[in-house]
Amino acid sequence: MALLEIRDLAVRFATTDGAVSAVNGIDLDVAKGQTLGIVGESGSGKSQLAFSIMGLLARNGRATGSVRFDGAEILNAPPRVLNRIRARGIAMVFQDPMTSLNPYMRVSDQMAEVLMLHKGLGKAAAVAEAARMLDAVRIPDARGRIRLYPHEFSGGMRQRVMIAMALLCRPELLIADEPTTALDVTVQAQIMQLLADLQREFGMAMILITHDLGVVAGSCERVMVMYGGRIMERAPVAPIFADPAHPYTQGLLAAIPRVDQQGERLMAIPGSPPNMTAPPPGCPFAPRCAYERPACAAMPPLETFAAGRERACHAPVAEVRAGPPPLPDQPEAAAIEELQP
Ligand SMILES: Nc1ncnc2c1ncn2[C@@H]1O[C@H](COP(=O)(O)OP(=O)(O)OP(=O)(O)O)[C@@H](O)[C@H]1O
Ligand SMILES: [Mg+2]
Repeated sequence: MALLEIRDLAVRFATTDGAVSAVNGIDLDVAKGQTLGIVGESGSGKSQLAFSIMGLLARNGRATGSVRFDGAEILNAPPRVLNRIRARGIAMVFQDPMTSLNPYMRVSDQMAEVLMLHKGLGKAAAVAEAARMLDAVRIPDARGRIRLYPHEFSGGMRQRVMIAMALLCRPELLIADEPTTALDVTVQAQIMQLLADLQREFGMAMILITHDLGVVAGSCERVMVMYGGRIMERAPVAPIFADPAHPYTQGLLAAIPRVDQQGERLMAIPGSPPNMTAPPPGCPFAPRCAYERPACAAMPPLETFAAGRERACHAPVAEVRAGPPPLPDQPEAAAIEELQP
């Protein structure tokens, strides 16, 4: 039994323009101690997938399907069950630390409160344990700085405080949703390294959500690529980068700048993400896909095509590996190919 078992999960929102299908028929297992990256463009359903697991959907949202944690069903569970799971089972860190920190309380008080409530510690023991956790997230002079208010920390340090807060009750699974997007590049790299270190030190499972494929390379074992609320491809990290088997993954990779390809043009995926109020009936990526064919009018199932590798695509793997056909309206591209021996 996996630590987290998701079956046929769907999230819909009621809006004045009609129903928005944010997440569609997701199956997902995360084993104890395993690390999974979830990657996809803005609006692909990454956050709503995470929020539905945690029972944090907006009021107009409804989740269906099944989410089992440690064998127990938690989807749409009553608040009493979710509060217990959120403290000790699954913790989440967000892009903006102020979504989980109270600006009017000293960090010592808010961290101690969590430990007093969930672990029954006395105040002094709770503050001491909180300081140890600030130490663990490498905040210098943790004992002195624990008395500060959240706004007295720099952006990167505040992100560390939030991570320390999430880890206080030693969760078995940490879900990090774009934890570094608001930070500058050096601080981003430090926080990603910290998360990878903590994941190993604490032996917890981790789901790392990001729109940046580059970020998952160093911190995850497996990657799941989402588009239009669906899984497009899922594989260990190495083959995703070396040999992407889905046209969308290929497009995401072509959009990452690489030092060894200076001077070459970055390829943005043409077109824009689907309108999820009226999603296309078949593969959501088809309207932007260079390999589109009539079969794509029906959603391809997610299928295993090699050990540990799955993808949802009607184009044969060999065809995708060979690369996209040149676009007819790009004469230069065709001309350059003719020049090559
Ligand atoms: N409360 C809501 N009501 C209606 N639609 C919503 C609501 N919350 C989210 N959505 C829609 O659900 C879809 C998925 O959103 P989600 O937040 O999961 O995207 P994401 O992949 O996390 O994107 P980003 O990278 O920008 O964070 C989007 O089309 C979004 O507009
Ligand atoms: Mg998001």
